This record gives sequence, C-alpha cells and structure tokens, in this order.
Amino acid sequence: MAEFTLPKNSKVKAGKTWAAKPGAKQPRRFHIYRWNPDDGQNPQVDIYEVDMAECAPMVLDALIKIKNEIDPTLTFRRSCREGVCGSCAMNIDGTNTLACTMAVEDCAKGGDVKIYPLPHMPVVKDLVPDLTQFYAQYASIQPWMQTQSATPSRERLQSKEDRQKLDGYYECILCACCSTSCPSYWWNGDRYLGPAVLLQAWRWIADSRDEMTGERLDNLEDPFRLYRCHTIMNCAKTCPKGLNPARAIAEIKKLMVERRL
Ligand code: SF4
Ligand code: F3S
Ligand code: FES
Repeated sequence: MAEFTLPKNSKVKAGKTWAAKPGAKQPRRFHIYRWNPDDGQNPQVDIYEVDMAECAPMVLDALIKIKNEIDPTLTFRRSCREGVCGSCAMNIDGTNTLACTMAVEDCAKGGDVKIYPLPHMPVVKDLVPDLTQFYAQYASIQPWMQTQSATPSRERLQSKEDRQKLDGYYECILCACCSTSCPSYWWNGDRYLGPAVLLQAWRWIADSRDEMTGERLDNLEDPFRLYRCHTIMNCAKTCPKGLNPARAIAEIKKLMVERRL
C-alpha cells in the first residue's frame, strides 16, 4: 500500500505505524491526525492497520476498534452511531462528513483512508474540534419559538402546508460539516455566522408560529453575520444530511430585500 506523505513545509509530522495482526484477511490502513495538548509536541499522523474482515463497515466502527483494541489514547466524539446526533463529524478523505454513516469501502477507492478533524477549527485533542464559538453563534440566533400573542389554551396550531415549509431545514443535526467547509467561515468565523447557524436562523424565520420575524432579521442585518456568504456552495455539497444551507441563506437575503420595499 502507498505510504502517506506529508507536505514538506507541514508542521504535522509522520507518527507511529501500527500493523495489523499477522494473518489479517482484509487489512486497511487509516492515517489519523493526532495532537495532544499536554505533551508539547507538534501534531502527527499515526497509521493504524485494521482487519476489516473483523470490523463492522463504517469509519466510526474502525475508529472504535482502533480505540478498543490498538490504541486507547485515540480521541474522537461519537454518540448515536446512526447519523442523528452530529457528534462524529470529521474530515474523511478531504470531505467533511459523519464517520458513522461513511462506509469504509466507499472511502479512498479502496486505498488508505485519511482522517482529520473538521478544518479551520481549534483542536481540543486528536479528532475533537473546539465548537465553543459555533455553539455561541447558534445561541445568538435564539433558536426557539418566540411569540407575542396570547398563549392558546392547548397548542399553537400549524397547517400542513406551513409545516412543509420547514422541510429541508428542521432535519439539520448541527454537525458543523457545512460551516467548516465554507471559505468565508474559515477566514471570518469570528464575525460571519456560517451556513449551519444561518440555516437554523431561517428555520425559525420560516416557522409560521414564530412571531419575531422582524427582530430575527434585524439581528442578521450585518455585513459580516449574513452577507459574508458569497454563494461558494461547499456547504450544500458536503452536508451529510443532504440539506442546502445556501438556499436558506438566499431566502433570508430575499426577505431582507422584500421588507425594504
Ligand atoms: Fe450538518 Fe447539514 Fe446541518 Fe450543516 S446543514 S450543520 S452539514 S446537518
Ligand atoms: Fe459558504 Fe455556502 Fe455561502 S459554502 S459562502 S455558506 S453558499
Ligand atoms: Fe451521531 Fe455519528 S455518532 S451522527
């Protein structure tokens, strides 16, 4: 199998290699970014060989096998194992996606699989990105239903047609794959809200039961928070749930124009 080579100017150095046990029937190599904030060393890429004949099919299954049987220090997030919690988001073969829904056999045309943390985010350890700012930005759009009218005796009703207007938005699991694939977010992530948070902002603007549309738009009317989207479309290409944050951003911009007329 081909050796993984790092760019000459990379501060990430080649690390350890862990070969599969002798007699492995389907050995597959995983090149994994490692960084430990406590050892004072630069990051490195370790190589783990896993016998896929004895491993379940997803990239997350391979990571769990590595952690359980080869190297317990390997650190990554995961919870649901079925694409609904968003915690296993990482960069696999150059694409931001969910490790639990990405089959190893679909990776790297059968070659070595390269796994890095989500790009352009501070790293807590190994494959764990620091999402503190991402969540603070999410909180800033006040992601809950807000009303001014009297509380009804039972519930706030919504027609089937109005409910359908949330399709394509409510399914977002806040995995951050889209925001961390967006060049505008890479360069201005401290001020631009990014596609995931803007999709969530639209989800509440589009909800017929919410009564704070004007205030929500005021909160987004800013050259950085909203208008740093330059329609690059990486967000829609990478979303592991098949959503289109760019469409949500376009809807917000359209409403901004309409309210000025
Ligand atoms: Fe993840 Fe898609 Fe939501 Fe972005 S829009 S946070 S990629 S589920
Ligand atoms: Fe970024 Fe998507 Fe806009 S990749 S620039 S948020 S269309
Ligand atoms: Fe929940 Fe992958 S572990 S989305």
